[in-house]
Amino acid sequence: MTHILITGGAGYIGSHACKAIETAGYTPIAYDSLEYGHEWAVKWGPLETGDIRDRDRLDQVIRKYRPEAVMHFAAYAFVGESVENPGRYYRNNVAGTLTLLEAVRDHGIQNFIFSSTCATYGLPEQIPLTENHPQFPINPYGSTKLMIEQMLKDFDAAHGLKFVALRYFNAAGADPGGRIGEDHHPETHLIPLVLDAALEKSENIRIFGTDYDTPDGTCIRDYIHVTDLADAHVLALEYVLKSRNSGFFNLGNGNGYSVRSVIQTAEKVTGKKIPVMEADRRPGDPPVLIGSSEKAAKILKWKPRYDRLETIIETAWKWAVKNSNTP
Ligand SMILES: NC(=O)c1ccc[n+]([C@@H]2O[C@H](COP(=O)([O-])OP(=O)(O)OC[C@H]3O[C@@H](n4cnc5c(N)ncnc54)[C@H](O)[C@@H]3O)[C@@H](O)[C@H]2O)c1
Repeated sequence: MTHILITGGAGYIGSHACKAIETAGYTPIAYDSLEYGHEWAVKWGPLETGDIRDRDRLDQVIRKYRPEAVMHFAAYAFVGESVENPGRYYRNNVAGTLTLLEAVRDHGIQNFIFSSTCATYGLPEQIPLTENHPQFPINPYGSTKLMIEQMLKDFDAAHGLKFVALRYFNAAGADPGGRIGEDHHPETHLIPLVLDAALEKSENIRIFGTDYDTPDGTCIRDYIHVTDLADAHVLALEYVLKSRNSGFFNLGNGNGYSVRSVIQTAEKVTGKKIPVMEADRRPGDPPVLIGSSEKAAKILKWKPRYDRLETIIETAWKWAVKNSNTP
């Protein structure tokens, strides 16, 4: 039985990756501090509670399972908080990943898949963003992820660690089987916030900026279904194992959707009127962020299955309704 260590495996994307990994015939070992993750989300393999900054605990778990590869989702990922408290982000994301990478090196693990982000690009110079777009992150969160990308290149050069860094655009939606979904506290992502307003858990959804140079004046973003993201991790793992190459890949939908079109689609899917409050632009929000995933399509043979906005919102809505009934 081939074990894959999944840091952050009790989190939103990590738990969906555990399902995909198990479906592909591997055993996912979720390694999570549970600071933001949920025990209930770990359903496809064992949960080992632990922190990536805790080298002794990492050694213990790696010795127990001897994983063939590590998929590294564990991180803090609130952009605003990273601006206010950068030290927390450098300590967890950068120093924590360094501790993990040294453990990986010392135990002779040679395969690593990393959750990077489109936030490493900063302000787009051209759309769609391709992997060779310059990387000048505009917040500490993005900087931590770029530093990790650099560490991966250096560990590859020095120790032969083969890696794939996947630069996600906006993950959204929920497991179509309905067993897991997004449950961030606090929630900062648009689709679950829109659905909270539909469920009357909040008074309205705030639109930050309605005067951008876009067709309806609101920001345009690229939403990628979490199950499609999870599938890409399996393909990335198999790519690394077979080709012994490393690489960077965008994972996006290739289609951009404006904030207003997300709200309109959510109204259609939920059958509810969603109250809106228009607010000022937020500093550092580019008008349009759309990624090209052609490289992942060509090399990893990745093809999103749930790329229609309606489908993404339908799965998120099914989950939100189910989740709102559980105390
Ligand atoms: N959600 C998105 O749209 C998005 C976009 C781009 C990149 N990412 C990246 O994808 C990854 C997963 O994101 P998510 O949305 O699933 O977040 P999440 O918060 O749901 O999952 C992260 C998990 O990591 C765990 N964790 C954090 N620090 C840890 C530590 N020191 N030791 C052990 N566990 C720790 C948390 O408890 C949590 O379960 C993150 O690395 C994030 O930066 C997410």
